[in-house]
Amino acid sequence: MSDWQKTDWRSKPRVQMPDYTDPAALAAVEAKLAQYPPLVFAGEARRLKRHLGAASRGEAFLLQGGDCAEAFDQFSADGIRDTFKVMLQMAMVLTYGAKVPVIKLGRMAGQFAKPRSAPFETVDGIELPSYRGDIINELAFTPEARIPDPQKMLQAYTQAAATLNLLRAFSTGGYADVNQVHRWTLGFVESDQAQAYREMAARISDTLDFMKAAGVTQETAHTLQSVEFYTSHESLLLEYEEALTRRDSTSGNWLAGSGHMIWIGDRTRQPDGAHVEFCRGVLNPIGLKCGPSMTSEDLKVLLSRLNPENEAGRLTLIARFGAGKVHEHLPRLIETVRQEGANVVWVCDPMHGNTIKSASGFKTRPFQSVLSEVREFFAVHQAEGTIPGGVHFEMTGQDVTECTGGLRAVTDEDLSARYHTACDPRLNASQSLELAFLVAEELQNLRAHRESRQAG
Ligand code: PEP
Ligand code: CO
Repeated sequence: MSDWQKTDWRSKPRVQMPDYTDPAALAAVEAKLAQYPPLVFAGEARRLKRHLGAASRGEAFLLQGGDCAEAFDQFSADGIRDTFKVMLQMAMVLTYGAKVPVIKLGRMAGQFAKPRSAPFETVDGIELPSYRGDIINELAFTPEARIPDPQKMLQAYTQAAATLNLLRAFSTGGYADVNQVHRWTLGFVESDQAQAYREMAARISDTLDFMKAAGVTQETAHTLQSVEFYTSHESLLLEYEEALTRRDSTSGNWLAGSGHMIWIGDRTRQPDGAHVEFCRGVLNPIGLKCGPSMTSEDLKVLLSRLNPENEAGRLTLIARFGAGKVHEHLPRLIETVRQEGANVVWVCDPMHGNTIKSASGFKTRPFQSVLSEVREFFAVHQAEGTIPGGVHFEMTGQDVTECTGGLRAVTDEDLSARYHTACDPRLNASQSLELAFLVAEELQNLRAHRESRQAG
């Protein structure tokens, strides 16, 4: 994009960003980050874009998942490994349901900055600025902790780099072998309550046995032991994003070097705002969260601003309306996309429209609501004849108690036991896998529906 500069966002209205108090300290951090290597390369972002283009045509399916907010004090190899592991399990189950390749995209290695519904938080009559993610300030409820500190961007960069390094190692180092991934899943379906999923797992076992018998092994097929794993985060803290933006030497275009995909949140998608201005100029695939307040008029402007060339895979619309509201909002936005002839990937985020306060006082999400929203999303696409291109979850491989429900039911009273999120409640490993089985069922039903229509 020749008329675009990575600093242009600075002259646009900005929301949800901190007011740093020490401009010299901020400038020093930005200068340092601008010298650091980018975390991802343009060829990788372009490759992800091609895969997403396939998802827009129903030839691939996106699984995007990870923490609501990565946290400095929860940074550990085990945490990264466990989320990676459960995402691979989910991807395998989804591949079985969709019968197309599943794109694995972590909310990882950069998901540090958070938009908040209120700028201030009040506890026991004391009012302090809200926590905005570890890249900006601290969760502790003290005046000092809530001051935005630019140095935190350097720590976020370091954590993102180390996370990505480990993910790259896991992806190619043998950890991702299909037989191993399936063995983990068999452990899950052995539990008494998972009966419904046993049959699907048994059929995956059969398929793997057949492939082995036919001579398709790790040795003959390298793709069976390695995966492509991509990273994504909300492009919220634009000083950080700008500092990591680099010119791609092959194409001359700009790359956001902070992650493979970046997305624009539901609170920062003003068509004339700073976040849209930044994202429109980089070559990465871009996500756009669409909540109930997204109007057709705004979506029209956003489609042309973010994807003027109507490139396949460039723009992913992440619908997050809340259970019971999908039928009201998704068809009208699908109609807008149709009128504009726009190429998009439709993805369902069944998390952000389903957050409630539990009786015990915790912010939670009932598994049933998450599931309902997914079902409504599939039903609307089936009725409209459009393509459900993927799912977007807040999840972790750890055994947390943050969302209620699921086969190994987490109750309201359980929430306090292992509630570790710094921000929104995540699905735990077992809830995540259960959801993957349910989405796989939806995908199978959709295929059956299409095939019967073609046959009839
Ligand atoms: C998020 O994905 O963590 C988030 C804040 O989502 P949304 O912008 O859809 O509210
Ligand atoms: Co969230």
